[in-house]
Amino acid sequence: MLNYTTYSEAGGVGKTTLASNLAVAHARGGLDVLVVPLDPQDGNLSRLFGVDTARADDATDTLVRHLIQRPKGAFEDLIATTEGVDIVPEHNMLSSLPDYLRREQRQAEELGESFGLHSQLLRVLREHDVNEKYDVLICDPPATEGVHLYNAIHATRSLVIPLEPSAKGDASVQGLESLVTGLSTNLDMDVDVLATVPMGFKDTRDQREMLNTVEYDIPEIVGERTSLFEGCWKQQCSAFEYVKEHRSRVREYEV
Ligand SMILES: Nc1ncnc2c1ncn2[C@@H]1O[C@H](COP(=O)(O)OP(=O)(O)O)[C@@H](O)[C@H]1O
Ligand SMILES: [Mg+2]
Repeated sequence: MLNYTTYSEAGGVGKTTLASNLAVAHARGGLDVLVVPLDPQDGNLSRLFGVDTARADDATDTLVRHLIQRPKGAFEDLIATTEGVDIVPEHNMLSSLPDYLRREQRQAEELGESFGLHSQLLRVLREHDVNEKYDVLICDPPATEGVHLYNAIHATRSLVIPLEPSAKGDASVQGLESLVTGLSTNLDMDVDVLATVPMGFKDTRDQREMLNTVEYDIPEIVGERTSLFEGCWKQQCSAFEYVKEHRSRVREYEV
């Protein structure tokens, strides 16, 4: 099984854009894909795919309930499918996930039990045989360090990192290796980097120089495609779907 978390130190670099389009790319390649986005904020992956209709519904079952061992229904019933990709939609309850998890941890400790703050997503996915049912698992957490990010990385152990190829992004590229080492230390596990993907590349000399300093694989580069990705948010779909369904003429560079 191929598991990864889209990760970047800062927000707005392209994690969600990358996660959503990679998911559709895998599905188009014939793989069974599950996406578990974990970002409590608006403008998250569920919004992009238009599967966030129940995000404010307090009565509905949510992944958060499963993470704190209080499910209201079957895990399978959480799943929404779009463009051939299965997604566990984000819910507003995700913003209180740190509190919910700490409460569970306190209770467990009082009973002399252990409760892994960062291993609950992995537990839920294992309990539902996700590794047997799917070929690919992609998590898309927020950039901020905390239980969302750590649960995602714990469940996947690998990262795909969007890079900002600018002078500002340069600083985070220089610190990338130590950042990944820090995550490994924090979680007490080996965290692999499968790929780094420059987003919004304009092929300037500075950008090319910057990419030369990246220690990880760069299997693909995504150019500056503001119109395309704006269109995706507007139509709530992947770039694949957008180019096919919402462009009146074919733009070779988008294809
Ligand atoms: N290659 C790109 N070219 C132009 N705009 C992009 C590109 N990749 C992402 N964006 C835009 O940047 C913004 C942030 O992207 P997003 O994927 O939501 O980042 P993150 O999930 O890391 O916060 C979005 O408006 C998105 O459409
Ligand atoms: Mg995002």
